[in-house]
Order: sequence, then C-alpha cells, then structure tokens
Amino acid sequence: MSNIKFFYGNEVPLEMHKVRIVQKLNLLPVEERARAMNEAGYNTFLLQNRDVFMDMLTDSGVNAMSDRQQAAMMQADDSYAGSETFSRLEGKLKEIFGTEYFLPTHQGRASENIISKAYVKDGAIIPMNYHFTTSKAHIDINGGRVEEIFIDEALQLTSDHPFKGNMDINKLKDLIETHGAKKIGYVRLEAGTNLIGGQPHSLANMKEVREVCDEYGLMLVYDASLLADNLHFIKNREEACAQMSIREITRELADQCDIIYFSARKLGCARGGGIITKHKDIYMNLREYITLYEGFLTYGGMSVREMEALTIGLEETMDEEMICQGPDFIAYMTEKLQEKGVPVITPAGGLGCHLNAKDFVDHLPQEEYPAGALAAALYIVSGVRGMERGTMSEQRQEDGTETLAHMELVRLAMPRRVFTLSQVNYAVDRVAWLYENRHLIGGLTFDEEPEVLRFFFGRLTTTSDWPKKLVAKFKEDFGDSL
Ligand code: F0G
Repeated sequence: MSNIKFFYGNEVPLEMHKVRIVQKLNLLPVEERARAMNEAGYNTFLLQNRDVFMDMLTDSGVNAMSDRQQAAMMQADDSYAGSETFSRLEGKLKEIFGTEYFLPTHQGRASENIISKAYVKDGAIIPMNYHFTTSKAHIDINGGRVEEIFIDEALQLTSDHPFKGNMDINKLKDLIETHGAKKIGYVRLEAGTNLIGGQPHSLANMKEVREVCDEYGLMLVYDASLLADNLHFIKNREEACAQMSIREITRELADQCDIIYFSARKLGCARGGGIITKHKDIYMNLREYITLYEGFLTYGGMSVREMEALTIGLEETMDEEMICQGPDFIAYMTEKLQEKGVPVITPAGGLGCHLNAKDFVDHLPQEEYPAGALAAALYIVSGVRGMERGTMSEQRQEDGTETLAHMELVRLAMPRRVFTLSQVNYAVDRVAWLYENRHLIGGLTFDEEPEVLRFFFGRLTTTSDWPKKLVAKFKEDFGDSL
C-alpha cells in the first residue's frame, strides 16, 4: 500500500483507484442458494453466475480493467498478419522483460501445451516448485512426470516464511544426480505458486535455480501467470530488493529464464497468453506449433482488442501502487479471519485468501472432499463462490484409489480491483459464522466423475441431508436476512 498514515491508527488497505463502471449483484435468499448448489451438483464450477453474490472462484479473466486498457481496445488494428497491435504488444514485452521473441497463445494452458509438446519427451522428469493442474496435465499427457521439490515450509499451512514458493536447491541437485541431466526435460518455476496458496519465490532462490540449470545444462522455464503478486512480495519481503523498482526486479527475474510463459487472464488483467524467450533456437522450435494450434503468429488465438488491453495491462503491472491492491486486500481478509480463529493459510499470499479445510472441517475424511464440502457450504450460507483446491482437484490413481492432496484448501480468490472492502467484510462475517457452525457440514461423494480434470465438470451428492440442517441454523440465527 502507498505510504498513508491513518489518524486513528486503524490501518485499512486504501484503494488507489475509483470505480467508474459498476455491475449489479444478486444475493439470493438462503433456501434458493441451497437449491442452486444442489442443482450444481455441489460443484461451485457448475453454479450460474446470476446466482452468485461474490464470485471468488478465480482471478482468471475477471480482474477489473483500467480506463486506459478500455481506451486502448478502441485502437486495435485488426488484420490476420502483421498488425500494429501485435507490434505494440511485442514491443512492450521486449521493453519490460528484455526478451527478443514473443509467441502469442490463446491462454496459459495453450502455452503449456506447446512447451510440453516441444520439450517433454517420453519418460522425461520435470522438476518444479509445485505443480499447477493444467501444467501437470500437459506434462503427463506427453509422457513426462512432474517432481515437486518444494521447501519443507511450503506445506506448513501456518508459517511466517516469506517465500514458501521457493525451490529446494539441494533436492533439485539430488534429483538431477539421481536420474541424470539427460532425463530432465527442463526445470519449471512457478511465480506466486497457485496451489499452495499463492505463495511467492524469492529472486535469490531463482538465481540459485539458474546456477543449478547452468551447471547441468538445463533450461529454466518460468510460469509468470502470477508474476504481479510475486513482484509485490519480492519488493516488500526480500531485503536485498527493497530499493529496486518493480521494473528492475522484473528484468532480473527475466534474465534468469530461458522461456517465460503466462496466462494473460491473470498477468496484465486481460485475456490471452504468451511465450517469450531470448533464444532464437527456442523461438524457431516453438513457432510452428503456434500456427498449428493457436493461430497466425501475430495473434495466436487472441482478439486484437484483448492484445491492446494486455499491452497497457503489462505496463500498469510495473506500478507497485497497482499490484499491491490484491495482496493488501488478501492480507486484510486473512488477518480478520485469523482474529476470529478461522484456520487460514499464512503468511497471506497472492491470488486469494485460502481457508484450511482440513482443520475447518476436521471431522471429514479426505475421501469425502472436505474442501469441496466447505466450498459448497460457504456458498449456501453467503452466496460467495470459492474454489475447491484439494483431493477433488487431484486425479485418481490407475487402480482407482484416491490421490489424497497435500492440502485441503478453499480458495477465495480476490480478483484485482473488483470488490470493495465492505464486501470483503461481509465474506469474513459469513465465513466466521460458518466456522462457528462447522459441525453441521457433512461430506460429498461423486455422482458423475470425469476421468481428466474431474473438478471442472464432476457432479457430487451429499453424504447426508446436512445442507438442510445448515439452512435451518442460518434461519434461526439470521431470521429473514439474506
Ligand atoms: N499457470 C498458473 C500458475 C495458473 O494459475 C493458471 C491458471 C495457468 C497456468 C493456466 O492458465 O487458465 O489461462 O489457461 N489458473 C486459473 C486459476 C485457471 O483459476 O487459478 P489459463
């Protein structure tokens, strides 16, 4: 947050923007929310947005755009090949990251598809700080295997470690020594590590990873989808970087990488994605995949309007006053929930506030999807839509047994510049009430279970009539309040 002192000493994250376009929200009565959740098969992905009050499912493609982004969209140059819009975006990426080459894609996972197709050979091992669902799925489908080499603190839900997203350098070296460098496809580092609660890595750690890559002749691939949050944390938590500008930190990070890819649904507050590199051979290797899977080289599946918005969005990401908004609101929400005793991931990260469902509903076994059940219960009592990030988001083993997740989390994403502080306070109030009544939450079981990425479309049912009891208690405590 900007350096603003409050007279009464009651510090709140102050918005450094004003709202000029608004969207009306709906808050259904609790019985209707229970009905909507039932119709959605107790999967928050399957809720209709008209039934949702605060959509905290994701920050992907739902961040607020600035007036400058909207204005830029008007000057988009629509042509199949050689558009001015492409040149502007390419130029901005070069200016910020210092990378010569840019390959546009339609979103983050499309970049993952292309990188995996090109560099994941059968039996290859891809070490990383932590997997992301789509990143892992693309590596698996190309015959590779993910090895997570996170630091011990990464899975400690309450901690004061500032960089839980760091890679364990000794484990990385051991892994390479054990299997031989030839077996390693590349090393993947993820900014703002999504699945462990939006936790950052440090610049120092990335430099150490780079040294190992140099020692063994390996490529470093950086998933920069959540770079904005990570930049904010490096600036504010890494002493050696406190005096550096966001641009300087970005350039140092970029200099360590062979390939950087991103989802522009997160980075740059637009929609789309891309791959950037300073190496011509990598560019030449990946280029033909773009035309095969994405579109011509100057749009890659993105609309030119989104590309214009992205160019400005990237520039605005270099402004600490802009990128602090998400982390500051998340820290506020995390702190308020902690005051009420609710188990949350600490330190607060980027992306969203994360509830620790294993502790929240510790009476539920992982096989009954505690995080999924908590997300469903929270929607019923508040109209707040969060996302399950636990065992439901894992894939079963080949013999049908569950892969029990390291963590059972409910992610309450904080789309950037979208919610007001009073809405955040409302969410805190309802989560805290639910925590008081947590014994009423029961388990879930699959009705329809897709084989791949089952959490997107899977339909579940409750193991008892617990939603009914939850609604009854809500009515008892809140009367006819929504
Ligand atoms: N990498 C990370 C770290 C991500 O968080 C995501 C998407 C992707 C890659 C894939 O990008 O959606 O543009 O294809 N995360 C979204 C989320 C889906 O809700 O966290 P995409």
